[in-house]
Amino acid sequence: MPGTSDVLDDSLPELRRIVEAQLDRYVTFPDDCPARLQEAMRYSLLGGGKRLRPVLVLLASEACGGTIEDALPAACAIEMIHTYSLIHDDLPAMDNDDLRRGRPTCHKQFDEATAILAGDGLLTLAFDVIARDVRPPEVAAACCLDLASAAGAIGMVGGQVADLAAEGRWGDRPDASSGSQAVTRLEAIHRRKTGRLLSCALTLGGRIASATQETLRRLQIYGDNVGLAFQIADDLLDVGGNAAKMGKGVQKDAELGKLTYPGLLGVSESRRRAELLIEQACSQLQPLGPAARKLELLARFVIERDT
Ligand code: IPE
Ligand code: IPE
Ligand code: MG
Ligand code: MG
Ligand code: MG
Repeated sequence: MPGTSDVLDDSLPELRRIVEAQLDRYVTFPDDCPARLQEAMRYSLLGGGKRLRPVLVLLASEACGGTIEDALPAACAIEMIHTYSLIHDDLPAMDNDDLRRGRPTCHKQFDEATAILAGDGLLTLAFDVIARDVRPPEVAAACCLDLASAAGAIGMVGGQVADLAAEGRWGDRPDASSGSQAVTRLEAIHRRKTGRLLSCALTLGGRIASATQETLRRLQIYGDNVGLAFQIADDLLDVGGNAAKMGKGVQKDAELGKLTYPGLLGVSESRRRAELLIEQACSQLQPLGPAARKLELLARFVIERDT
């Protein structure tokens, strides 16, 4: 992840390597998984990506005095959910994209049915991993609940539905003028489709490291703000980013009639709001002291990134 400070440049590649090695082990199944399904799940899960959510789980745990080893299963689980959401997001019935993480999307590489089922397989595996490998069982149960609510109908899945509804899929496109109602509506979509899962990475890490309720609350506010800023940056990259660098298509949102921050507020106001959100996020970390330094740097990376 270029553009981050030395502290992060030193530790991110290693954290990503640890996550990717464990993901590889988790998607190595015994013989009774159909070969085509295993291939598609491995193709999407092990094929690149910034690994931001699993890294956030590990850094949140570290900030609360936990170990990487204890946080690794939850880190892998959230990356599985995220990857499943990308596979389904790219389907012709949703955003209809051909390129993801620098390669053909799962349905292009395989076929639609395989892509849907590979997504289903990753979604279910995430909960298998937490139930099996997070200790003690009470923490595993709390993590399952966090993740289910962040990923499900009141979280990411609900947000994806709202995102498609705002395109006008199922009737009139709701008012997309730049009035405050439209901004409120857009913020709610982004918080659900992206913010909830990203914020969940923080609370998973905190729970595993036995963080206090007060620290969990602070991590959640940090995550909510970084999550919204992350999707604003994603919208901005769709407008001004480089497709080859990002490994996915650009300038698709306007084509699909998506409700986006730059579409509604323009590029500079969107950037200003994202910066404000990152400041608000980082202010929550103060009581955690130097242990949370990497979380602070990662928050800044979220809006400075070019991938
Ligand atoms: C892309 O997420 C989809 C959104 C939620 C905006 P990322 O930008 O984290 O995608 P990868 O994991 O790095 O490919
Ligand atoms: C995706 O948002 C959010 C998900 C829940 C996957 P986008 O549709 O903007 O993500 P990209 O731009 O295709 O990565
Ligand atoms: Mg989408
Ligand atoms: Mg998309
Ligand atoms: Mg996008």
